[in-house]
Amino acid sequence: MSWWSEFAEAIEPDAPLGRLTWFRLGGPARYLFRPRDVDELGAMVGRARQEEVPLKVLGAGANVLISDDGYDGVVVRLDNATFRRTQWLGSTVNVGAGVDLMPFARECSGRGLSGLEGMAGIPATVGGAIRMNAGGRFGEFGKVVREVDLLGSDGTLDTWTRDRLGFGYRRSALTDEIIVSAKLDLEEDDPARIKATFDEYLDYKMSSQPIADCSAGCIFKNPEGQSAGALIDRAGLKGTSCGKAHVSERHANFIVADPGATASDVLRLINLIRKRVCDRYGTELEVEVEIW
Ligand code: EPU
Repeated sequence: MSWWSEFAEAIEPDAPLGRLTWFRLGGPARYLFRPRDVDELGAMVGRARQEEVPLKVLGAGANVLISDDGYDGVVVRLDNATFRRTQWLGSTVNVGAGVDLMPFARECSGRGLSGLEGMAGIPATVGGAIRMNAGGRFGEFGKVVREVDLLGSDGTLDTWTRDRLGFGYRRSALTDEIIVSAKLDLEEDDPARIKATFDEYLDYKMSSQPIADCSAGCIFKNPEGQSAGALIDRAGLKGTSCGKAHVSERHANFIVADPGATASDVLRLINLIRKRVCDRYGTELEVEVEIW
């Protein structure tokens, strides 16, 4: 019997991952695991650790590049109902890690709850948005988080309050922990005003980013006080390609995967961009997307 037979009903072996990412690239997961509840997830975390099988959570797949060889471990998807609940308690909301960020942020606007307008145009799950402190020039997710319920690396439940979460630019203090749900503090405001702000931010992104193409959003973090997109643009790299991956003409910090692209095309292009920008401007660009 295989070590994972007790989870068999929730596991798909050799599951293609590309379809679950915005890049639509990459090989299969050794095991794709969709737990039905927190206990099952906790049991898997403990078991995988015992078996020394690596484990990662895939959110909306909007900020990852999965290698062509795939991921040799357990990939967790929190898309069952238990992980997608929201509970509205005045200006406080309890929200599951598997909830889709954009529709959720829009619903907050409709209910007259302000704080997530800056999430307009950011594809993510709530869990992914917390872990990466998703955001941009219009605000970051971390600022509304009061506390997070999570599973520690031993599979037991814990609650971390925001002081422990260490939010920074596209980062948090979370490492192996798995976010299960979060408590957010929003502010009551006029729904029409919130919606207008949300729509304004969305329009800005639609006009400045290649939202409809296969990409993972910004590839590089902005270096202190600079814009990675502007640097790559000034280095003359828009439109440059490796295989079937090219630098977006609309926003230079986006790499677009055209039909037939491979993850290795994207990786080669990332290296080419880093080298060119470093040679020209002496700036070392740091990758923002997670490479699995
Ligand atoms: N710019 C160029 N050429 C380009 C792209 C940008 O000259 O090809 C210039 C723009 O004209 C602007 C400046 O660079 O003066 C900054 O551009 P933008 O307003 O698009 O913001 P950004 O810093 O490139 C950040 C986030 C985005 C987020 C936007 C808007 C990072 C790395 N990126 O982009 O986040 O959507 O602000 O809030 O922090 C992401 O994280 O995946 C992402 C797309």
